[in-house]
Amino acid sequence: MIDAIAIDGPAGAGKSTVARAVARKLGFTFLDTGAMYRCAALAVVRRGVDAKDEAAVTKIAEQIAIHFEQGEPQKVFLDEDDVTTEIRLERIGDLASRVSVFRGVRMAMVRLQKVLAGGGRVVMEGRDTTTVVCPDARLKVFLTASADERARRRVLELQARGEDADFQTIRAEIVERDKRDSSREHSPLMIAPGAVVIETDEMSVNDVVDRVIEAYYAEGKSE
Ligand code: DC
Repeated sequence: MIDAIAIDGPAGAGKSTVARAVARKLGFTFLDTGAMYRCAALAVVRRGVDAKDEAAVTKIAEQIAIHFEQGEPQKVFLDEDDVTTEIRLERIGDLASRVSVFRGVRMAMVRLQKVLAGGGRVVMEGRDTTTVVCPDARLKVFLTASADERARRRVLELQARGEDADFQTIRAEIVERDKRDSSREHSPLMIAPGAVVIETDEMSVNDVVDRVIEAYYAEGKSE
């Protein structure tokens, strides 16, 4: 067992916000695995490679250096370049979902994620942290919310950043991304055996954070 919390769920379920807050409260490191796929997607754009070219995209994923700098906010570096803001663009998120279907890309990312999580005291979040990266985490959580609620949250987030946000467009993108993330051949998004499912539609961020921490301590007691 690794003394870690792994949180998976669909786009917009609030995984990052919750994982970050839980990590802060427990004094653990926060590991945003989606940021790594976003770095791979950004590298593909920067190098002008066709995102459908599996061999070329895989090569890039194997070559790039990604590292995190802890802090508020946590910074993400791609080949020594601070890409914290750039990887949050919607089109990079969409491309991340596309390149993450490739097996070689996943292998490269998971290899690094296992190293980063291996020492424990980590809260990680993504699509396969409970099933592939760290199935032996002390607590596994599947965090979800309805597509309407997730689209509503994303619109608010984008508006807060001064970006254009149309509810119906965002909702359609979320549904499409869910489908791709859940139906892909390699490490699809799914509920891991033993995971605690938290449906967050009616919950505040604080409620969810408390629930995760409660579940984490409860797992310890049942050992
Ligand atoms: O969580 P996010 O929106 O930052 O993730 C972007 C994309 O990366 C997501 O649509 C699918 C992919 N991803 C993945 O395949 N596995 C992970 N563990 C995390 C993200």
